[in-house]
Amino acid sequence: MTATANDPTGIDLQQAARDHLWMHFTRMGAYGADHPVPIIARGEGCYLEDSGGKRYLDALAGLFAVQVGYSYGDEIGEAAAAQMRELPFYTNWSYAHPRAIELAKRIADLAPGDLNRVFFTSGGAESVEGAWKLARQFHTANGERRWKAIGRDIAYHGTSMGALSITGVPGLRQPFEPLVPQVAHVRNTNRFRRPADESEEQFTQFLLDDLEHRIHSEGPDTIAMVIMEPVQNSGGAFTPPAGYFAGVRALCDEHGILLCADEVITGFGRIGDWFASARYDIRPDIITCAKGLSSAYASIGAVIASDRIAEPFQQGDATFMHGVTFGGHPVQAAIALKNLEIMEREQLPQTVRATEDAFRATLAQLLELPIVGDLRGTGYFYALELVKDSETNATFTEEESERLLRGFLSERLYDAGIICRADDRGDPAVQISPPLVAGQQQFDEIVTILGEVLTEASRLVGH
Ligand SMILES: Cc1ncc(COP(=O)(O)O)c(C=O)c1O
Repeated sequence: MTATANDPTGIDLQQAARDHLWMHFTRMGAYGADHPVPIIARGEGCYLEDSGGKRYLDALAGLFAVQVGYSYGDEIGEAAAAQMRELPFYTNWSYAHPRAIELAKRIADLAPGDLNRVFFTSGGAESVEGAWKLARQFHTANGERRWKAIGRDIAYHGTSMGALSITGVPGLRQPFEPLVPQVAHVRNTNRFRRPADESEEQFTQFLLDDLEHRIHSEGPDTIAMVIMEPVQNSGGAFTPPAGYFAGVRALCDEHGILLCADEVITGFGRIGDWFASARYDIRPDIITCAKGLSSAYASIGAVIASDRIAEPFQQGDATFMHGVTFGGHPVQAAIALKNLEIMEREQLPQTVRATEDAFRATLAQLLELPIVGDLRGTGYFYALELVKDSETNATFTEEESERLLRGFLSERLYDAGIICRADDRGDPAVQISPPLVAGQQQFDEIVTILGEVLTEASRLVGH
């Protein structure tokens, strides 16, 4: 890892980072004189540079977010500066302003079906919180009391208490229990290690039976919403089997349950459509989004509701009793509008769709390594599951996984000049999700670097 230069302000960035900056989900105690804090100082295209001048290929797009890459600061910055001059802030509490209106209309135009009402938030977790509260209040407005949510095993939906309660990762939940009560978790669409003779149709039925059983055991008329990512990130890019979302939609309809598609990652081009809900014909009542809406150039997210869900709130004195100061912030809305304009101009969702097969085929070369058991995903959103033995697909124990991912891979990948994520929220996986401006040159670079590092990792685990 490159040593860190001082900041132009004269601050010793390494020392100040260790003394003052509390990084998220980070073992702060791991940093010291011989183990510097990685300080990312600038970016260009798909590449980042640290404060010592070393370059990295960002194969994670920030955190699955920087769709346009890092080179649009001038253009997006102009839009932000113009908005700063015109109206640096106003709120959406009882007031509208032009950029929030324009962005709401733009999102409604891009969203599938009659998902026409947009409630702005500051990020993904806030969108998930908002969706759950909206679902509860929608049912109340219709004379029903329904409060529960159903999520999926290992799925990540954010860290605020409601979103965390929906999150299905035991290690993230446990330190904060008791959580918001009465969230049930059902099977996700991980098909790796399912019986070899199971057809896709049988797998779909198996998952739908599990959901149906859970709905009945919870009591259908207590459940406000089912929330699922179209392609589940945590655990490693689980795509839905054929017929799955049609079945989920049918079960929700049968029992009067709202269906929320959490598109915080999959929204805005990552899987080759503006929304994965369109690609998989999910027909959700609510979409939650954030990250790619502004390519993470701003902290803005949204809850997008269908006309049916919005309808009870458009009558008389009905009010959705929810709000955040920064929701629809004019500067952030201006940034998101410019980002969507750039994405449209550069045809990024279409490019992802046209390029995804080439990307997958390039990544598939890594399946030859004995440590790589599975390649999953779609669009620009993939995961490689690492295995102890590619003959049996046996996975690692917790200690082995700790040694492999945290003790070796995370740091080695970074040293080798690539940022992707070694994730152990499910079985160990390397997540690959580059900016949507990446092309064959970056795909090749990803495979070259990952190939070298995973070959070393294979040796380390005794292949
Ligand atoms: C599917 C999903 N939902 C919600 C969130 C939470 O988003 P945020 O970190 O912006 O709160 C994330 C974050 O990665 C996510 O992947």
